[in-house]
Amino acid sequence: MPSPNSLFRLVYQSQAISPFPAAELETLLRKARTHNQAHHLTGLLLYGEEQFLQVLEGANPALEELYGRIQRDPRHTQVRTLSYLPISTRAFPDWRMGYAVVGPAELKQTTGFLPLAQSPGFAAHPPAELWELLRGFARGVAADG
Ligand SMILES: Cc1cc2nc3c(=O)[nH]c(=O)nc-3n(C[C@H](O)[C@H](O)[C@H](O)COP(=O)(O)O)c2cc1C
Repeated sequence: MPSPNSLFRLVYQSQAISPFPAAELETLLRKARTHNQAHHLTGLLLYGEEQFLQVLEGANPALEELYGRIQRDPRHTQVRTLSYLPISTRAFPDWRMGYAVVGPAELKQTTGFLPLAQSPGFAAHPPAELWELLRGFARGVAADG
């Protein structure tokens, strides 16, 4: 049995209700980073094609609480858990919330997912493969700015 302090890594994908203006994303990120830092949550947020893909790493109950709030957030819908697994070390230890806006080609390359509306329930990559793609992508594009 994992101890209550075990680390988990959660990856989910969701569909924005409407295009997210840059200023709104910045406000979201500012609040998210403050919260995440206080609760030792790290990760990466990608946005493109009105879709979000987020990796969150941390311990419970902080991770579950945040994911509950994210799932209820009216700014997006079709929140789909892609992977939720215990981990021994963080892949984003220094990232309060890395962030990148990605284009269609990058999004497809990164996730292998078709837009959710076209492919409900469809995930082209198994989690391990998805994770490798994300890590490679994060090294190349995202910035912890
Ligand atoms: C795609 C997406 C990702 C989010 N990521 C985070 C996050 O990493 N940390 C965070 O505190 N809030 C994040 N939020 C915001 C939360 O959903 C929520 O608005 C925030 O935690 C405040 O919750 P409250 O209004 O219930 O107090 C995210 C929202 C969206 C739409």
